Amino acid sequence: MTPEIRKAAEILRAGGLVAFPTETVYGLGADASNAKAVARLYAAKGRPADHPVIVHFGSAERAFTWARNIPESAKKLAARFWPGPLTLILRRSALARDFITGAQDSVGLRVPSHPVAVELLKEFSGGIAAPSANRFGRVSPTTAAHVRADLGDEVDLVLEGGPSSVGIESTIVDLSGEGPALLRPGAITQQQLEKLLPGLETRNVSEVRHPGSLERHYAPRTPLRLVPAHDLDKEISLLRARVAVLAFSRPDERVDYWMRMPRDPQGYAQRLYAALRELDGAGCEAILVEAPPDAPEWAAVRDRLQRACSA
Ligand code: TXA
Ligand code: MG
Repeated sequence: MTPEIRKAAEILRAGGLVAFPTETVYGLGADASNAKAVARLYAAKGRPADHPVIVHFGSAERAFTWARNIPESAKKLAARFWPGPLTLILRRSALARDFITGAQDSVGLRVPSHPVAVELLKEFSGGIAAPSANRFGRVSPTTAAHVRADLGDEVDLVLEGGPSSVGIESTIVDLSGEGPALLRPGAITQQQLEKLLPGLETRNVSEVRHPGSLERHYAPRTPLRLVPAHDLDKEISLLRARVAVLAFSRPDERVDYWMRMPRDPQGYAQRLYAALRELDGAGCEAILVEAPPDAPEWAAVRDRLQRACSA
């Protein structure tokens, strides 16, 4: 146990805010059983108070104490994917209070795998409420530097843990209702889930109340547009303004700022948010993104890109 981790756990116990790395994105953490600490968390993020927040634990056993009527399917998913980039929505127990759940009868639970998060959760031992450590509606952070740039003054401590290996937020599965539903695609794919969850439906995100369903989300300040691969060349030739491009292909000399992305969905996801931040800072009037393939393994990346679009 490093002195930093010990200090972080002390800050959490005292009602403070600690940003910490997870394998998906960095989280802004507060003691999930402390109403005042969670209120501070929402204020720092600029997040509406009726939006529920995910609670993180060091083990499935602890996580499940915050739920009731836990279905067999939840236990199977936990055994298969925890620790890891999966969030389960379950019926809440009395431990999950209204200020965590947005007064809903369900709670979001996750056991992350990043070694720093694992150590912190072990030392703190309770549940850590943690949304992504960005201001509400902006691009999620995948490095400690991103967190400092967004929330530096509002956080008592930022734990360093290198770039997040997954790079996009956890897959969210709702098991609190009639049948299982995929609420947010992520690194754990629908195909992987369907093996354990026959009848999994994809719920239209606008039907559930969570910020991922707001139209404009994960968005850079510079207007961003998704362009089909076969239109990219034409779009570039029509350009009059200074633009930045995120693409699979080689740089085009007519374009001011070009970033080339990996052709595999995991590699792309891992770099996506850092790339959007970099392009956003390039002083361009627009960002053009070459649309990734319309294939199931790209679902999570496509979801985040669509939300980052301005139109
Ligand atoms: O990968 C992640 O999930 C990251 C890291 C830090 O763990 N966290 C994250 O948190 O993305 P946040 O707050 O930015 O997104 C959590 C999503 C939100 O859309 C929230 O509304 C939803 O989970 N959520 C939490 N509890 C819920 C509930 N009871 N019912 C429906 N959605 C819920
Ligand atoms: Mg977020």
